[in-house]
Amino acid sequence: MDAIRVRGSQKPLVGRVQVSGAKNAALPILCATLLSDGASKLRNVPKLRDIDTTAALLRFMGRDVTVSAPEVNVAAGSDVRPEAPYELVKQMRASVMVLGPLLARFGRAKVSLPGGCAIGARPIDQHLKALEAMGATIRLDRGYVIAEGPNGGGRLRGAEVVFDLPTVTGTENIMMAAALAKGKSVLVNSAREPEVEELGRILNKMGAQVSGAGTDVIEIVGAEPGALAPFDHAVIPDRIEAGTYMIAAAMHEGSDVVLEGAEWDDLEALVMKMRMAGVQVTSEGRDIRVRRTGDIKPVNVTTAPHPGFPTDMQAQFMVLMCIAKGESVVTETIFENRFMHVPELQRMGASVALRGNTAVVQGVPRLYGASVMATDLRASASLVVAGLVAEDETEVRRVYHLDRGYEHLETKLQALGADVARVKGAEG
Ligand code: EPU
Repeated sequence: MDAIRVRGSQKPLVGRVQVSGAKNAALPILCATLLSDGASKLRNVPKLRDIDTTAALLRFMGRDVTVSAPEVNVAAGSDVRPEAPYELVKQMRASVMVLGPLLARFGRAKVSLPGGCAIGARPIDQHLKALEAMGATIRLDRGYVIAEGPNGGGRLRGAEVVFDLPTVTGTENIMMAAALAKGKSVLVNSAREPEVEELGRILNKMGAQVSGAGTDVIEIVGAEPGALAPFDHAVIPDRIEAGTYMIAAAMHEGSDVVLEGAEWDDLEALVMKMRMAGVQVTSEGRDIRVRRTGDIKPVNVTTAPHPGFPTDMQAQFMVLMCIAKGESVVTETIFENRFMHVPELQRMGASVALRGNTAVVQGVPRLYGASVMATDLRASASLVVAGLVAEDETEVRRVYHLDRGYEHLETKLQALGADVARVKGAEG
């Protein structure tokens, strides 16, 4: 398995990085292609393993998919198999987002339960409850969700759904189901993430009537069967990738990095916290510029659903706090087990004390290189970022996780002057 080798230095990062298309926007949009026949084209798609997994899933179901980054083309094949097997779902939990569109389009679906994952139990009860409210019958059988439309495979009915908590993929799954349901659906306490808003744009392009995507109440009037059209669309920029490079830039005094094509409005919570930490972050047209001229100040953060501080930036922000002048508190409220970077950071000399869902971080003058690994994508990214300033060499193993979410990570960092390389076939 490959590893990423980082040689830390005090040399600032300088230069420009092009932000890739958003993984977490592209995945639901690819699932939305199931709602229509004809040929859809998705542009600005990042070259990532999760995209390949989704393509494999769509192919398994009978779609004709060509991935040629940054473009993905999806066309209807001859046969449809409304089924997502465990082998694919276990590689990527987001696969569960085929459930809504399959059920809405074909009146039935068989989708493997994703099971737990490194960052928490991550149930899908909210997805299932909402589909039941729309008239679906759902049973669980040997690790699979077996779902059927009303009266043995009929059309879903629009419904009012109140989510117990805002769930990103849950909201997306149900938006897709509602896009072909009979009548109007109202989704209350919806997730407000930019990726949800983006899916709303796609469903409108296809011919559904969606309003309120990006707010906590989304209304959807379903299209008639067969009425949704294929689409051609360029995916929004990846706010988490942009945020990760913003933190990487902030690690060194003297850095001056421009994130090309980053969406300022999607990054406000992070920008505010970085500014409080003493980092200069400015909006320059369609770019974001990050400069650091002094010490990092400690800042407390608590993760929250959008527009709060994103859980997907918690690990990276913690790394910045590891080199701050003083003590900060990082609280994780979204996932119960999203601190697996902490023991690895401790091995690099960080001073972090865990108390339940809170990490108390005492800034240290320096970090030290080590062999580290994490089983969560963002935790892995945070270790690479820590390696940028650690003394000597850091080897981040299980790069497999990084390849799920960061396109050309090492070449983008190299372009900023970092000493980062991929080591082929390193020990797993
Ligand atoms: N939850 C439930 N029941 C449900 C659904 C969710 O209890 O039916 C809970 C979860 O266990 C969690 C909370 O609700 O405690 C929020 O989870 P959510 O459903 O919003 O997460 P997700 O949709 O599975 C997406 C992103 C994650 C990101 C989270 C939170 C995609 C494909 N994934 O996951 O991205 O961390 O939202 O913002 O959009 C990543 O990219 O590294 C990543 C993990």
